[in-house]
Amino acid sequence: METKQLSRGQFLKQLGLSSAALMSFYCLGTGLTACSKGSDDPAPTTSPSGTTTGGNTSASADTGITGTSKGTSIDFTIDLTNSNFKSLKTEGSFTYVDDIIIANAKGAFVALSKICTHQGTTIDFRSGTNDFKCSNHGSEFKIDGSVQKDPATKALTVYKTELSTNGNSLRIKA
Ligand code: FES
Repeated sequence: METKQLSRGQFLKQLGLSSAALMSFYCLGTGLTACSKGSDDPAPTTSPSGTTTGGNTSASADTGITGTSKGTSIDFTIDLTNSNFKSLKTEGSFTYVDDIIIANAKGAFVALSKICTHQGTTIDFRSGTNDFKCSNHGSEFKIDGSVQKDPATKALTVYKTELSTNGNSLRIKA
C-alpha cells in the first residue's frame, strides 16, 4: 500500500511533468499560429505594404525610396525627410540611387544617368559650376545632360523630377 501510494505519487509526478512537456510540445506545434502573436507578423521580411518595385528597389521605409529605380520603367519617389536624403535639401548637394544621380542644382532638382557616356564611369555633381564631371577622362555635362566637354560625345539620359508641394518628396521618372 505504501509502495502503491509512492509509486502512484511518482506516477502522478511523472504524469505532471510529461503533460507539461506535452503542453509545451503542443504550444510549439500550434505555436506557429497561436504562440507567436508577438512575432506573428513576419512583415518586415516581406514588406506587406510593398510598393510596385518590379523586383528592383525595395520599398522599405528605411531607405526612403518607393518605386522602381532600375530598368526601363523608372518611376520612384524619394523621401526628403528620410535620413538618407535629408541632405539633398541643401542646394549643391547630390546623391545616387542605383544608376541615377540626383542633384539639388541651384534650387532645382535634376536627375540624370550617373553613367558617363564615354566609358561608363560614375559622374559627380559640381556645385560650384552647377554641372557634372567625370573624373576618369574629364568629360563634363550640363545639368540638362548635354556634353560640355569631351571626350564624351553623347548626352546623359535625363529623368523628370517632380517635387511635392510640401517639398518633402521628390518623384523621379523616365
Ligand atoms: S569614362 Fe567618363 S570621361 Fe571617360
